[in-house]
Amino acid sequence: MLRYFFIGFTLLLLLLVSMTGLRGWKSKRPPLELFPDMVRQAKYKAQTESSFYADGRAAQAHATGTVPMGYSAPQAKFADSNSSSTDLAGPYKNIQFSGSPTYRETGRMGTQWGTGIPFEVTPSIMQRGQERYNISCAVCHAATGQGNGIASKYGLNGIANQHQQRIRDMADGEIFNTITWGKNTMMGYGSNIQVPDRWAIICYLRALQRSQNATLSDVPDAEQKKLNR
Ligand code: HEC
Repeated sequence: MLRYFFIGFTLLLLLLVSMTGLRGWKSKRPPLELFPDMVRQAKYKAQTESSFYADGRAAQAHATGTVPMGYSAPQAKFADSNSSSTDLAGPYKNIQFSGSPTYRETGRMGTQWGTGIPFEVTPSIMQRGQERYNISCAVCHAATGQGNGIASKYGLNGIANQHQQRIRDMADGEIFNTITWGKNTMMGYGSNIQVPDRWAIICYLRALQRSQNATLSDVPDAEQKKLNR
């Protein structure tokens, strides 16, 4: 009986101390960081020196003729009130995106994952996808999609190999969702990769998968003949 009393008493005491005990204390020491994320990192602050560059400045001027993003930034629409989309130049010039949650924005058709690329896939879309894949995905999934990108050398385990049958069979919409929101230990890239780029990445991913899993019958006749068979 007494034992239970002591256990109960200790727990109650702990609860009391944790609720009220440390309130209002001041400390010069930094707070405990259980998950520091990337709060502290090696970086240069504005206007600091660097011995790396000859001119001793950490912030270097842009090279002449630098264009900010490779395409025009999304524009606010004023004039054309009929268009409910953001107009992007480059490979997406003629593709309109609505602001509503359609297949293009969610990867879902009703309650299921949909499949298919929601616009015409052209060579420039594939190129854009390749470029974006190499920027956003290759660090982990590797340029080949095999999952042994540079991040795996720094202790990130369990990076999915894109050539698994499971991912080959996966609906495009589900991959879209994985890019947008992440999956288990993969974080979401929705805030970094704009919607059409996510689809372009999927186009390129499909090409990568095909490249590792093709048969002779996938090769066009004309090319087969060159093989002298
Ligand atoms: C920081 C590393 C990292 C980056 C960058 C990354 N991924 Fe992943 N990805 C992972 C990991 C780890 C997994 C395995 C997650 C798990 O445990 O299921 C994964 C899983 C996946 C899967 C399989 C999801 C499933 O349902 O099993 C797909 C598809 C995928 N990634 C696509 C991409 C694409 C496309 C990009 C680029 C836009 C990308 N990933 C960027 C780490 C990354």
